[in-house]
Amino acid sequence: MIKEIARLKEERQAIIVAHNYQPPQIQDIADFVGDSLELSRKAAETKAQVIVFCGVHFMAETASLFSPHKTVLLPDLEAGCPMADTITGEDLRREKEKHPHATVVCYVNSTAEVKAESHICCTSSNAVKIIENLNGEGEILFVPDKYLGGYVASVTGRKIHLWPGFCPVHAEIKAHHILEKKERYPQAQVLVHPECTPEVIALAHRVLSTGGMIRHVKEDPGKVFIIGTEVGILHRMRKENPHKTFIPAWEEAICPNMKKITLEKVLASLETLSPRVKVPETLRLRAKRAVDRMLGS
Ligand code: 13P
Ligand code: SF4
Repeated sequence: MIKEIARLKEERQAIIVAHNYQPPQIQDIADFVGDSLELSRKAAETKAQVIVFCGVHFMAETASLFSPHKTVLLPDLEAGCPMADTITGEDLRREKEKHPHATVVCYVNSTAEVKAESHICCTSSNAVKIIENLNGEGEILFVPDKYLGGYVASVTGRKIHLWPGFCPVHAEIKAHHILEKKERYPQAQVLVHPECTPEVIALAHRVLSTGGMIRHVKEDPGKVFIIGTEVGILHRMRKENPHKTFIPAWEEAICPNMKKITLEKVLASLETLSPRVKVPETLRLRAKRAVDRMLGS
């Protein structure tokens, strides 16, 4: 199957990109593995005609914003993000009426419709910088992740109105999980994702995006790390740092949507050039502005 994927990839002039939470066998066949920001950049610059996106729906949509003439494939269309789906474009329009002077910042984990209603997009790796760069003392409306938005508010001191969305996977990582692991591995550094709850964030040495964690464990002299995010990331950490030890904060932090992508589905999708994700042109132009502002800032 892996050989056939490689052959078809060549034939179709395709690139396979995968998020850090993808199953190990998918990460291993991907041309590029990364966090949301790295994947948006990759999608924006690749010359490949076909992008096989191994991740969830909003990521494939973001790739489609940059590549209207390319074929963007999501091997399973059911791979969604429940946090992104907590808010529609209509909900956001209503929310904007309540805060007419607020600058709208959307986390990249959002639909194209929501991006189209937003001033600027951000990812977990640049959220603090994006908010710091917003001029003045004006109000901010942040959607859809209340934990990431709350974390950014606490770091920057800015007034942020929060939409009550959150990631169900990260919200299930509890403070007691971290405390138990800290007791067993007292020398370990605790790295957590900003989608975690404030109680978990308070126990961390560092709060990082998945890409930030990958870089940190490589560069830091530390040997043992407790990782507070989706467990798929441990595969890459262990592969790239065979002499270091990585402990999941909670073994069951598994995103079922990320795991919907399988080798069978990647192969089928290269064979049939489907299922495709394509953002309609008028929506694409409106949604792309928010992502362009992010990439340019
Ligand atoms: P990052 O890879 O940007 O840290 O995002 C995590 C995530 O939950 C993506 O769905
Ligand atoms: Fe969405 Fe959470 Fe899964 Fe990321 S880990 S795709 S935020 S549900």
